[in-house]
Amino acid sequence: MSDSANTIDALQWENRRFPPSEEFKQQALVTGTFMYDDAAADDEGFWARQAADLLDWNSEWSTICEWNLPFAKWFVGGTLNVSYNCLDRHVLAGRGDKVAFHWEGEPGDSRTITYADLLAETQRFANVLKGLGVTTGDRVNIYLPMIPEAAVAMLACARIGAAHSVVFGGFSAHSLRDRINDAEAKVLITADGGYRRGEVFALKPVADEALADTPSITDVVVVRRGGNDVEMQDGRDHWYHDLMATADADCPAEPMDSEQLLFLLYTSGTTGKPKGIMHTSGGYLTQVAFTHKYVFDLHDDDVYWCTADVGWITGHSYIVYGPLANGATQVMYEGVPNFPGNDRFWAIIAKYGVTKFYTAPTAIRTFMKWGTQEPAKHDLSSLQVLGSVGEPINPEAWMWYHEHIGGGRCPIVDTWWQTETGGVMISPLPGATTTKPGSATFPLPGIGMEVVDENGARIERGGGYLTLTRPWPSMLRGIWGDPQRYAETYWGRFDGRYFAGDGAKLDDDGYLWLLGRVDDVMNVSGHRISTTEVESALVAHPSVAEAAVVGANDATTGQAIIAYVTLRGGATVDEQDLRQFVGEEIGHIAKPKTIYFTQELPKTRSGKIMRRLLRDVAEGRNLGDTSTLADANVVAELQRRAAETASED
Ligand code: WTA
Repeated sequence: MSDSANTIDALQWENRRFPPSEEFKQQALVTGTFMYDDAAADDEGFWARQAADLLDWNSEWSTICEWNLPFAKWFVGGTLNVSYNCLDRHVLAGRGDKVAFHWEGEPGDSRTITYADLLAETQRFANVLKGLGVTTGDRVNIYLPMIPEAAVAMLACARIGAAHSVVFGGFSAHSLRDRINDAEAKVLITADGGYRRGEVFALKPVADEALADTPSITDVVVVRRGGNDVEMQDGRDHWYHDLMATADADCPAEPMDSEQLLFLLYTSGTTGKPKGIMHTSGGYLTQVAFTHKYVFDLHDDDVYWCTADVGWITGHSYIVYGPLANGATQVMYEGVPNFPGNDRFWAIIAKYGVTKFYTAPTAIRTFMKWGTQEPAKHDLSSLQVLGSVGEPINPEAWMWYHEHIGGGRCPIVDTWWQTETGGVMISPLPGATTTKPGSATFPLPGIGMEVVDENGARIERGGGYLTLTRPWPSMLRGIWGDPQRYAETYWGRFDGRYFAGDGAKLDDDGYLWLLGRVDDVMNVSGHRISTTEVESALVAHPSVAEAAVVGANDATTGQAIIAYVTLRGGATVDEQDLRQFVGEEIGHIAKPKTIYFTQELPKTRSGKIMRRLLRDVAEGRNLGDTSTLADANVVAELQRRAAETASED
């Protein structure tokens, strides 16, 4: 197909509409507008009804929401135990034999874990943590592959009121060290290694490197998974299976305050230092349970699969807390989508009869590249709802997902949210919303969202900044240790509004279309990475003098990291070595796709690097106004080299 044909198709798609089918509506939890009307009449009352309906509380709250801008508290005075809500109550209701996780290891091994199993394991591990001196209010770091012990560790922390801080297993020793030190975590839970692309990747040796400089850590618990050799430090390091063998089986769930800190999750900011996003218990669990139930139209016999890693917020909210609070049966998969073949995901869906599937646009675009013959090898007729999260889904990818995975019959829920929002904020409800390919449609019931212009005035049509107008239950409670940064980052741009950092436009029907980040945060395969962080990593290399990093549009990963680097006088460095260096500093996801070495970076006369120009160069656009440049030749040279690289691709 030629480019022009594509463009015409894409334009047509934007006008296509997909109402839920009659068949889907007949079994759907929500059809029509009643839930929206209900919430619009009284949003706090609406959330209070959800909290009472979806969760078990030990004592009732006295105030639904206490709002001292920018600080919110929800269900104030109420008490509950998050782990009790995710485990005990299902077992007590006679559902102990229901499968919580069909766990699929990458090499092909598998485990079936019921709610009773998960409760037993969590109680024991909660006692292990207590035995290591962990008490309510402490922080515990988790650095694990996608194995059930990750959920156990999180739930065990929740059970005793300790906050977890999960660090994605792909992050480097430096990143792990900084996050442990910022949180002042007492215990680290890790594994020897995990499986990825058919090989064992080591975690414990990476953790050891971090642990050389983490004074707050007293003990390390190591799960055996990879079978790789690891060193165990006497007195500090313990095998998970040894501790579990002697741990007491009973650990009663104690009521915690609704505002008890549940976890920290670190996310990139526009300045170098990662932010420890704080989430608490009652409000968070209410919103993740609510959104998981209604966005995925959850029924008791569903088999739900979210392909995220527990190291990201999607794994926290839509593998651990939301689905388990709802007593759902899930698939949890350890590895990559292309091992042993490019059809692994589709094989898993057929094997377990997955009904609800939640993945990211970057994955969908990769599947498109691999071809329709891969999903066609398997019976995907069990699927009923498809979800998307992490970045804008382009109409082509939406249509491909709809046709080749959903067989033309499954509603697609494009869910917009963030680490900071804790749960989904904008999404269709599959039995109620007519979707348009590429649009996240409307805010969910109970959510206040407006698009505003530069001056913070509401826009009803066209493009602007996405803002949230009132607190929501799973809203972040702050940035760990830095309330001022919290206030400035999220509430400082527009008076009285939370600004999410994303641009968005409203079409003539009031549908919302996300336009990506407007700040210096890149979105690479659905992961937020700050340009500043990658620049600091580059400059940490002894040969590098100066670096500028931009995110350029990329067909597969959404944005790709492009770096422009000047070297110190006389120094040399190989591009691959420098990419590797960044990988070690931050993690492999932050490695630049391309590094251009240049004598000079384009700068204004006042010496500011012109990132906008570099982005234009990287995306092959004609440059606009370059008159403010100190030296226009620099850009001409970079453009010539970018064109060369593009023709090599
Ligand atoms: C982007 C991931 C468009 C957005 C849950 C947001 C999206 C950032 C969507 C948060 C979507 C997430 N459509 N963009 N459906 N979902 N984003 O914190 O830029 O890892 O601000 O949370 O991802 O990324 P985070």
